[in-house]
Amino acid sequence: MRKLLTVALAAAALVAVAGEEYPELPRKITGETPEQKAERMAWWQQARFGMFIHFGLYAVPARHEWVKSREYINNAKYDSKYLPRFNPDLFDAKEWAAMAKAAGMKYAVLTTKHHEGFCMWDTKTTDYKITKTEFGRDLVREYVDAFRAAGLKVGFYFSIIDWHHPDYLIDQNHPLRPRNRDVWSDEKFAELNKGRKWERYREYMWAQIRELLTGYGKIDIIWFDYTTKNREHPAWGKSYKHWDAVNLVKLTRQLQPAAIIDNRLDLMDTDDGWDFVTPEQFKATKWPTVRGQRVPWETCQTFSGSWGYNRDEMTWKSVPQLIELLSETVSKGGNLIMNVGPTARGEFDERAMDRLAGFARWMHWNSRSIYGCTVAPEDLVAPNGTAITYNPETNRAYIHLYDYPMGRLPIEWVDRIEYAQFLHDGSEIFINQPPKAHTQTGDTHQIGYLQLPMTKPAVEVPVVEVWLKAK
Ligand code: GLC
Repeated sequence: MRKLLTVALAAAALVAVAGEEYPELPRKITGETPEQKAERMAWWQQARFGMFIHFGLYAVPARHEWVKSREYINNAKYDSKYLPRFNPDLFDAKEWAAMAKAAGMKYAVLTTKHHEGFCMWDTKTTDYKITKTEFGRDLVREYVDAFRAAGLKVGFYFSIIDWHHPDYLIDQNHPLRPRNRDVWSDEKFAELNKGRKWERYREYMWAQIRELLTGYGKIDIIWFDYTTKNREHPAWGKSYKHWDAVNLVKLTRQLQPAAIIDNRLDLMDTDDGWDFVTPEQFKATKWPTVRGQRVPWETCQTFSGSWGYNRDEMTWKSVPQLIELLSETVSKGGNLIMNVGPTARGEFDERAMDRLAGFARWMHWNSRSIYGCTVAPEDLVAPNGTAITYNPETNRAYIHLYDYPMGRLPIEWVDRIEYAQFLHDGSEIFINQPPKAHTQTGDTHQIGYLQLPMTKPAVEVPVVEVWLKAK
């Protein structure tokens, strides 16, 4: 019966690719209960902070991981130029893991393959892989071993987009799309795709995913990327039908039952075809919701704009900005996955190391305001220039001081505070109840405040740890 079902599903999927019918999206794919999901995701919710690593051939041109598409480079040119030069001889997975760990990150996600199609593991599906280069080693294997050994959870990013495979259908982002948009039409794309057999690509992609999910032990996160929808011209984009995404989720669950899956397979209309949402490169204004419900979320961010190593990019975020990004994200119930794009020699760039060291310095003192924390109860309104995270287990709140105040930090809910201290040095901070009105000062709205030292302590973002009175 089960086999029959699989065959039927496979057949249905084939039909889909021919552009005809596809079984309608079910609302439920795996049948997992919300409690089971919460349990599976518990470590991730506690962790809050991870490292993204974008590494591939694109580190050689060093001007964005989309260089192949942006510059309309065909396979022959891309491969003849960059493949022979790819040799990350200074790569040491243990060093990467040590830096992630020191920065306070609890998990990592590495690009096993990006849109360019180059495989960073020793796949049997193609020769377009790292073990066929001068470097010759299975980088994914070394990454998994080193990060596991360092006590970090291990994730795989996998690009479902593939600009190298000869059967991958040319679409609006493909390097071989016509440069002149005026000539774009459904017919034009159909003509460009003549002879390309989508089923062959999908089988290839599925086989790769099977390898990754069976050959490297337990994988904690699978980050599929991504589905370009074009509602007006479906033929210029892709949809869940192309990936046979419903069954892909089932396969992933079957091979890695504990793995956490992102939301880029175009299954947002299902309840359980995704585990978390992924706001990319912007600060969420509030906890993201889906169909009215707050959902687990992780914002993915870069240090400078590109994901792959980009030598000439000068728009690097400062350490205080990055600390704000992390703590502010946690104050809205989210995770931050911070990206590093290693150089073609296989090392983290100096500027990235500087930012990671900034995180390390800050997290050394302040990680208690991050791990296990989430949004604060609604009545704990954040004073201007601050964000508050909250640990429900310990009933403590953490006030992150982005704009260091002039001694007094006015707080509306001062009567809820039992005790307060700086987190970095554990030094007491006095709590002042609202003073009796003294009209001479002209202060009409008397509220309580925390009495901070006038001089900002030597911490990028000081944090006040607050013990709340039991309710
Ligand atoms: C995007 C980009 C990409 C990057 C990813 C990370 O969709 O295509 O280059 O890998 O987001 O979130």
